[in-house]
This record gives sequence, structure tokens and C-alpha cells, in this order.
Amino acid sequence: MVTVRAPATSANLGSGFDVFGLALERPGDVVRVERAPETTIEVIGVGQQYIPEDPAKNTAGIVAKELDAPAHIEIDKGVRPSSGLGSSAASAAAAAVALNELYDCGLTPTELVRVAAEGEAAVSGEAHADNVAPAILGGFTVVSEDHVTQVDTSIPVVACLPEIVVSTRDARQVVPQSVAIDELVGTVGDAATLTAGMFRNDPTLVGQGLRDNSLTGSREPLIDGFDSVRESALDAGATGVAVSGAGPSMLAICHEGTQAEIASAMLDAFFDVGVEARAYQTSVGGGATIVRKT
Ligand code: HSE
Repeated sequence: MVTVRAPATSANLGSGFDVFGLALERPGDVVRVERAPETTIEVIGVGQQYIPEDPAKNTAGIVAKELDAPAHIEIDKGVRPSSGLGSSAASAAAAAVALNELYDCGLTPTELVRVAAEGEAAVSGEAHADNVAPAILGGFTVVSEDHVTQVDTSIPVVACLPEIVVSTRDARQVVPQSVAIDELVGTVGDAATLTAGMFRNDPTLVGQGLRDNSLTGSREPLIDGFDSVRESALDAGATGVAVSGAGPSMLAICHEGTQAEIASAMLDAFFDVGVEARAYQTSVGGGATIVRKT
């Protein structure tokens, strides 16, 4: 039996739609796998009632099929589904790492990213790797057609999750299919600034590059109170705020030691518009890890 923990992740980061992602130190999913003649899945934990246990419809089940590694898979959810915090990716990433170990498949972490992305395709309709890449590799990741780049960083963040449900499929429908050239130039500048900030471990640069653009910004109306929550976070010292993945979570970039104040400001602002929320005061962290093998 192999047990793996994989972290929640935040994709897009404003300027890097479908490209940027980062691993959060918490929350995370824990997946246990045991060899079996055919794959079966049991889900426990937060939001477990919304997650299919049919292996053909579950990200971890699809990963088992891709690896030709049948197993009984127990998924203990710490990442709420439809949160914008890479819930399905955490399960897919943990299953990929665990099954690779259980069956001694010998795949590299980068190869496992591709396998886990197939699991993601079952949920969102497209094989994105922007959540599974940081869930497996940790840190900040940049995914493009044929390669993944990873940078270790420890930028402090707050991920604030309101009690609103936004499905990834719906959130993709509001994204414009084309952008004007001046918008594109601005986004390239922001994306480059953010990447430089990650390399330098500099929250100010990362926050500057996190600016919304017409792609990720198109999702803000799906989140009640978005503008006031962002303003409150910036007033409390956040260097940048954006929709996390497809939402509804919001990600705030922070200087060391300011997370508590920023989290409290975001929670208050959601409360003022009648939305319950919770906030994770965390930082960019590591990827999937084997926690037990018997
Ligand atoms: N990049 C994806 C999106 C992340 O924003 O739709 C969610 O799978």
C-alpha cells in the first residue's frame, strides 16, 4: 500500500491563463492505493458527496487506467471540489505518484504530469496541466505545449475560499476567444514580471504581474463581492489579488508575516456581502510526496 499527499494549487495567476500554477502548502488531498484486480474508488473528506466514485469519471480512476495500474484507491479530500484550488488535480497528482510507486512504473515526475493531466481532462473537458504540474512538482510552474518549467519559491499567500460554487466548465465559457494587441502586450509584460518575481522570491514583483486581464478578469462577476474583497486585501497589504484558477477562490500575494491581516480583511469583506468564506494563510510549497509505503 502506498499513501501520497498532494497539495492544493492555484492556476493562472492573472496573467498566465492555462500556463502558470503554484503549489500551496495547505490544504491537500491524501490518496492511498492498494493493488487490486480492477480499479475501485472510495472518497471521503470535504465535499466527498460531489465526487464520482465511478473510476471512468474520477480523475484518479482515469490515471489508473492510463498507467495500466488497477488498484483500490481511497481519496481523502482536503481540497473542496469546485473551489478553484485544484481539487481534482490534487487527487489526480497523488494517484499518479502513488500508482507509479506501487507498480514500479518508473515514470519521471514530468511524465506523471502528462498522465495526471489526462485525469483532469475528464473533469474540465480539456487536458490542462496548470494545476497538476505544481501538484506534482511543487513551487511555481510554467506549462506550455511540450514542456514544463518549475521554480522553487516560498512566496507567502492567502487563498480565500467563499461558499460559492463555480464549475470549471462554466468559468471557461465566459473567457473571450480573442484579445486585442494592446491587451496582449500588457499581459506579456505582466507574465514576465511575475515570472521574474518568482525567480527572485519577491512578493512585490509577483503581485505586480498578477494583474487581471480580459481573460482571467472575465470571471470576476462570477464571484459575489470580488471587487470589495480585492480592495480590502490590497488595503491590508497584499501586493496583488486574482481569481484562483476557475474560481471562486481568490489568491492574494503577501509579504512575510502579513497573511493574518490580509486573510481577516478578505473574510470581513465577503461577510459584508453575505458570503461565508474561509481563508488559508499559507505559502507556495512542495509537490506530491509519498508519506507511507507498506
Ligand atoms: N486554467 C484552468 C482554467 C484551470 O482557468 O480554466 C482550471 O482547470
